[in-house]
Amino acid sequence: MKVPSIKVRPPGPKARDVIERDGRFLATSTKTSPIVAKRAQGSVVEDVDGNTYIDFSCGIAVVNVGHNHPKVVDAVRKQVGELTHFAGTDFYYDIQTRLAERLAKLAPGKAAKKVFFANSGTEANEAAIKIAKWSTKRGMFLAFLGAFHGRTMGSLSLTASKKVQKERFFPSMPGVVHVPFAYCYRCPYQLKYPSCDLYCANVIEDLYMKTVAPPADTAGIFVEPVQGEGGYIVPPPGWLPRIAEIAKDNDLLLIADEIQTGIGRTGKMFAVEHEGVVPDIITLAKALGGGLPIGAAVFDAKLDFGVQGAHSNTFGGNPVACASAMATLDVMDEEGLVTNAARLGKRMAARLDEMKEKYAIVGDHRGLGLMRVTEFVSDPKRKTPDPRVRDAILKDAYEHGVIVLPCGESGIRYVPALNIPDELLDSGLDIIEGCIGRAAS
Ligand SMILES: Cc1ncc(COP(=O)(O)O)c(C=O)c1O
Repeated sequence: MKVPSIKVRPPGPKARDVIERDGRFLATSTKTSPIVAKRAQGSVVEDVDGNTYIDFSCGIAVVNVGHNHPKVVDAVRKQVGELTHFAGTDFYYDIQTRLAERLAKLAPGKAAKKVFFANSGTEANEAAIKIAKWSTKRGMFLAFLGAFHGRTMGSLSLTASKKVQKERFFPSMPGVVHVPFAYCYRCPYQLKYPSCDLYCANVIEDLYMKTVAPPADTAGIFVEPVQGEGGYIVPPPGWLPRIAEIAKDNDLLLIADEIQTGIGRTGKMFAVEHEGVVPDIITLAKALGGGLPIGAAVFDAKLDFGVQGAHSNTFGGNPVACASAMATLDVMDEEGLVTNAARLGKRMAARLDEMKEKYAIVGDHRGLGLMRVTEFVSDPKRKTPDPRVRDAILKDAYEHGVIVLPCGESGIRYVPALNIPDELLDSGLDIIEGCIGRAAS
């Protein structure tokens, strides 16, 4: 079967029907493309009208092992038949304990770790906020402009990606100070790496901690090792270690949000490993569950609440989600997907770099492993973001059978499964190049 195959221009009649009813009954959220999925396998999605697409979105960086991986499906089926729910915070079952032990051993650093399970990324970050506040007895946090940590009121206060995410929701949790991220393509300080000497990291200690974020009141620094929704921004070498050093020197916790970067996405199991950084807390969700909802805060065991009831929930560590996560981690190991992400990342980067050289509308291409973005600009010299051209390319892409997501102000992100076949990756990139070429002319 040829993939992609667009028989009816999307959205086709069946898709339009679902979209119309969705609009009537579902709350307005963040829909980006009118693709109505019926089934999916590996890196191929079929819609309700029989079109097939190459998936470069993975359900927002979730199905790193591909859609419906047979091993994950088997594990889920088996677990559903045995035990679907038992409230893992109040009682016990082995699959939750085994997953916690596995994550505790997988997380970087020699210190003993513990795990709190949640059902989503935002909840994993809420848990991290509480662990940090509880253990330090301090209430403030440092976070970065452009950050995305979730949309519930604690994590929303850390989020600083788009104003629409925050508008009309104030007040959220007080005490969060945002500082500029290491966005070299658009350096907030108009400096150049490496002659900048990591000014954007040093300024935290030299200015912010001396004025608005006193370390005596600050519990920790929340950081995405690669900024996700903000635009897949990869900080320059040395930046994350410097942030870790500043946290340590000032007795602050370092909280790495690996919800999007974790589970092999960047070519290491955790993105912090690229820089040898060991955070005090790592938050995970998305790809951990292989398609089922699960979140986790993996933290230095010394930070544990140690008091019953300080933090808890009903569904966290659900047995079916845990079984799915265990099978996902098995598949990652068996198929060598961390290494494969690094290999395919290089292949993808080479093509996207070529496109950057060829088309003036591509202002930047960057990424780590299989987490990549092209940023579109209307004026390459002034780097004026061009969301209009980005939206046109996104539409052209799904009409030609490739599913991609927007990212940042004017980017398109590419997050295919870590086991996407080379030929599908190449075909997808050919189609993307066609779309960019049409937009450029
Ligand atoms: C880095 C990061 N943190 C947190 C979240 C929030 O996760 P969720 O949507 O599961 O609440 C996301 C979601 O995109 C994310 O990318």
